[in-house]
Amino acid sequence: MRILVTGSSGWLGQTLVPRLRRDGHQVVGLDPVPSPLTEIVGTIADRAMVRAAMRDFGIEAVIHSGALHKPNIETHERSDFVAVNIQGTLNLLEEAVAAGSTVNRFVMTSTTSLMISKTVRAGRDGGAERAAWITEELAPLQPRNIYGVTKYAAEHLCRLTHELHGLPVVVLRTGRFFPEEDDMAHAISQSGENTKANELLFRRATVEDMAEAHVAALAKAPDLGFDNFIIAPRTPFTRADCAGLIHDAPAVVRRYFPHYPEIYARRGWTMFQSIDRVYDATKAAERLGFACRTGFGEMLAALES
Ligand SMILES: NC(=O)c1ccc[n+]([C@@H]2O[C@H](COP(=O)([O-])OP(=O)(O)OC[C@H]3O[C@@H](n4cnc5c(N)ncnc54)[C@H](O)[C@@H]3O)[C@@H](O)[C@H]2O)c1
Repeated sequence: MRILVTGSSGWLGQTLVPRLRRDGHQVVGLDPVPSPLTEIVGTIADRAMVRAAMRDFGIEAVIHSGALHKPNIETHERSDFVAVNIQGTLNLLEEAVAAGSTVNRFVMTSTTSLMISKTVRAGRDGGAERAAWITEELAPLQPRNIYGVTKYAAEHLCRLTHELHGLPVVVLRTGRFFPEEDDMAHAISQSGENTKANELLFRRATVEDMAEAHVAALAKAPDLGFDNFIIAPRTPFTRADCAGLIHDAPAVVRRYFPHYPEIYARRGWTMFQSIDRVYDATKAAERLGFACRTGFGEMLAALES
């Protein structure tokens, strides 16, 4: 397939573009930041450029991962988020369905962050009695910042385009996979590696797994029509664990992984005292046929060996 990948110079793009090429796809990268994986240096906010990109390369599929995201909240205006994440997404969708387009499927990278309201977030600061169990059914959604608001609007543009024009569109609400140190309260005295290892229990996946989810979505889009999926590691927890996770997360983790304290102790690592949410990726496993390869259990096994 001839695939347009937006955000090709970014962290996900660096893994996703080579992954698609290994499958024999012709990939055209589009990003305002130059890189060896980016053929078109430009912005999705430029409608004429988006149109030319699709027509000139005979694009058949779009993977739309380019965005202003959470770190950009500090550096960009809210109107920049609207221009890139909303108008830019609309440009891609409308050019994908315009006369003369050969695009027959569309995958958008969204974020689990848009499901986190101020209330869910407050659980982390000691207000909640139970961890939030988060599925695609969670409603009403009240994203807490401009990143989540614009991604949520972009998701609705995807749904609307499917309803109006029948274009198959799959939205992937990906959990964390950024490589940087955590900026959150959890990080307290833990190393970045320790924090990331803990997060594999409920919210973080590897960038390789995230790229693989996009490959699965691309293949399944025509069968799915429109759908959205949480992409996160397979959590060992169940809803029955939610109270325990808030009050004493290490005790809950020990029930599933009795040897974890020993493995952690050898590295001087600790578990979070409290876990405020669990992303449930069951729908992706059942309907998309995708599950992350690396979760907490695999990480522990790798440390042991
Ligand atoms: N990294 C995470 O933990 C995480 C979590 C959830 C969702 N996401 C989503 O995954 C996608 C990829 O994120 P990433 O971690 O690779 O971030 P990244 O910042 O490394 O990559 C995003 C890319 O988008 C590009 N971009 C910015 N403005 C653009 C525009 N106007 N037109 C085209 N491209 C533009 C950037 O230049 C960058 O290369 C984003 O949509 C992000 O919202 C990331």
